[in-house]
Amino acid sequence: MHIPEKGKSKEEILATLQAFKVRDMDWKAGKVWCYVYDPGEDPAEVTREAYLSFLSENGLDPTVFPSLLKLETDVVRAVIDLLRGDSNAVGHLTSGGTESIMLAVKTARDKARAEHPEIAEPEMVLPKTAHAAFHKAAHYLCVKPVLVDIDPQTFKVRAEDMRAAVTPNTILLVASAPSYSQGVVDPIAEIGRIAQEKNLLFHVDACVGGLHLAFMRKLDYDVPDFDFTIPGVTSISTDLHKYGYAAKGCSVVMYRNKDIRRYQIFACTETTGYTLINPTVLSSKTGGPMAGAWAILNFLGEEGYKKIIKQVQDATQKLMAGINAIDGLQVLGEPAMCMFSFKSDTINVYHLADIMRKRGWYLQEQFSTPSTPRNLHISVNYGTARNVDALLHDLRKSVKFVRQAIQINSGEVKAMVEQALQSTDLEAAFRRMARVVGLPENELPSEMAFINEVLDALPDELCNVFLVNYFNDLYV
Ligand SMILES: Cc1ncc(COP(=O)(O)O)c(C=O)c1O
Repeated sequence: MHIPEKGKSKEEILATLQAFKVRDMDWKAGKVWCYVYDPGEDPAEVTREAYLSFLSENGLDPTVFPSLLKLETDVVRAVIDLLRGDSNAVGHLTSGGTESIMLAVKTARDKARAEHPEIAEPEMVLPKTAHAAFHKAAHYLCVKPVLVDIDPQTFKVRAEDMRAAVTPNTILLVASAPSYSQGVVDPIAEIGRIAQEKNLLFHVDACVGGLHLAFMRKLDYDVPDFDFTIPGVTSISTDLHKYGYAAKGCSVVMYRNKDIRRYQIFACTETTGYTLINPTVLSSKTGGPMAGAWAILNFLGEEGYKKIIKQVQDATQKLMAGINAIDGLQVLGEPAMCMFSFKSDTINVYHLADIMRKRGWYLQEQFSTPSTPRNLHISVNYGTARNVDALLHDLRKSVKFVRQAIQINSGEVKAMVEQALQSTDLEAAFRRMARVVGLPENELPSEMAFINEVLDALPDELCNVFLVNYFNDLYV
């Protein structure tokens, strides 16, 4: 696009924007089983209006926009209460789970810098199932991630393995409630005891689980321990834009007290410009997400959330049972809430995902690791819960189809990848491989199975380089 010489009409612009969505997957029909959390028309409408009513206000300066200070402190306090923090607990709204996690890691790093200047190379201990946001934080903030394997049956980390990974350089322990990949909750109470014993900070990533699990507990479901009532937990991240059903751009990072939180806040008066005090990564920021979150918490209320959560849990149980009943498919582990993944020992799940996609469904592919088989992930939410029967119907048909189709030969793909890796010019080898798997430059592929097969066969480090190259080509 070029900026047009003369501006266009509102009608033309909005129609064109709508037209851009033509190839998007239809989340409104409840067929996309991740990425979008849809609370239904009325709550979404209230959120949208609240969001737009604060679109232009700037969260950069609460002295100019005290309304945003009020919105933020209200929402943070409500979530702290839900996660059973006491009056000493504090927090901030951020743009999402990644920002909340990055801030928790920065806080731990800067606290360690102040209190343990002898630690030159800080480390954080995290399960293999911890979200990639921790790796991103490690990369940005120069903290070494020390990865701990998980139990390949339960997909949870073992507390004693976390303990064994602690060194004099450890500044932070991490666990998930639940992990995204298999939806299981790590042994938070046991890890909390280690944190206390060793005087370490301990972050619980409840980005997906915070609200959903807390309401499940109120509904008397069996919910594992994960919140501020657990001794040793010093910070928690919980996203409102996931199972809080708020508009995107809203998460909470919470700390047990202000003594910890102070290391999160950044101030700068060293320039010729205005005084800058930023508790979060973003500086200028719209008040939209704060207002959207404030609105939906108040619109749904406890009653509304409980109703949603009950429906979503019923749908999840039915879906997992239905998947386990399909010959060749098996749900992994014992998921704690409404997120899970399933594998197949008899068909290629990447191929299955492609076939389902052709039928309008999006199930998310997850690569294999030494402790997890390749699998497809499903996050059930209110907007998809109504489609359990339809999804199972198409899954059964698609499994049959994939079983009868020509299977991708994983051995051949592995051999091709290994041969490509012999090359001295990896960049060229990657480009050749991209052509072979049918990955068009500057465009999105329509089928993913073969591409996923190749990516799964690549060692992690090289897979990352391959993906970086691909995105470097895809975007302008
Ligand atoms: C457990 C967990 N933590 C963190 C994140 C990152 O959240 P975001 O995508 O909002 O940055 C996710 C995203 O799915 C997640 O599942």
